[in-house]
Amino acid sequence: METKIVKANTESDFKEAAKIIRSGGLVAFPTETVYGLGGNALDPMAAKKIYEAKGRPSDNPLIAHISSLEQLTPLVKTITPLAKSLMDKFWPGPMTLIFNKSELVPLETTGGLQTVAVRMPNHPVALKLIQEANVPIAAPSANLSGKPSPTKASHVIEDLSGRIDMILDGGDTDIGIESTIIDVTSDEPVILRPGFITSNQIGQMKEDSSVPEDRRPKAPGMKYKHYAPKASLVVIKGKKEDVLAELLKHQDEGIICTDETRSYYSGNYVKSIGSRKDVKSVAHNLYRVLREFDETPVKMIYSESFDETELGLSVMNRLLKAAGHQVIEVGKKGKE
Ligand code: TXA
Ligand code: MG
Repeated sequence: METKIVKANTESDFKEAAKIIRSGGLVAFPTETVYGLGGNALDPMAAKKIYEAKGRPSDNPLIAHISSLEQLTPLVKTITPLAKSLMDKFWPGPMTLIFNKSELVPLETTGGLQTVAVRMPNHPVALKLIQEANVPIAAPSANLSGKPSPTKASHVIEDLSGRIDMILDGGDTDIGIESTIIDVTSDEPVILRPGFITSNQIGQMKEDSSVPEDRRPKAPGMKYKHYAPKASLVVIKGKKEDVLAELLKHQDEGIICTDETRSYYSGNYVKSIGSRKDVKSVAHNLYRVLREFDETPVKMIYSESFDETELGLSVMNRLLKAAGHQVIEVGKKGKE
């Protein structure tokens, strides 16, 4: 299949993309978090094609993207006051809500679950595409299963060229990590995946760890192996000076540092992931930097770590997953 790549700045680009979606094809498009791989959320065959193009297990459900609140009602059984208040506050934006699904949503889209994930993205290209298509668009991140989520059109091209009908190039995505997922099917909201919107912004939230293990995992995606770079990644935790000292020992390997520490290193594969003064910049660059290491010959990557609060918690969630939770704690001697 030939994949058409367009800049998404003419009416005819959108008309063509919308037509592809309506006729059961696949279009990758930018959102404010990461690029999505879109198909008609109400078409079971489109869902099958998405799983196939990504190489993703078909019991890992998809997020339905909408462009207006009128599109939500037919997809769900009830909208609780809690869901309503979260939507008022954060939509359009990087927040996905889990509802009990209506009959209209095929089980292929929800990976067999009776619940459906819905998000209204805050990106003009995504919103216009959904509007033109006039159907909710199911879209997982537009990467091959096992690769980091794409934050640039070039990442999508690398992974999915030849496997989908069209790519709308809307430049780099702003946020860089995926949406916060919140289960609102009971009166006790549960965060299933941390993201750009943090628990502090949301109010009293329960973490997913409180869900009994014997129950079917509520964010089925979590049970699958996550992206790991080709090289082995280790996250170094500890006091700033101790972490720096540890990383300096490994300068002939790969180093993930920050703008504040960049000048201390002289190795060939040192990459700053952003500024500590602006954790948003770290989220923005994270997946790009991880992808870049796959193009280097390094066998080991050592990374600085971030405070696990607010957005830092979401950044560390993704970084630790990529590291397969390999962590070295430094500077503990003397305390033990
Ligand atoms: O920011 C984002 O959320 C991006 C952009 C494209 O919108 N999308 C994204 O989709 O990250 P994906 O498929 O890569 O991740 C969706 C996650 C998966 O972990 C999946 O298991 C979970 O959402 N999910 C989807 N439907 C669910 C449901 N009904 N119940 C629980 N978890 C669900
Ligand atoms: Mg994904």
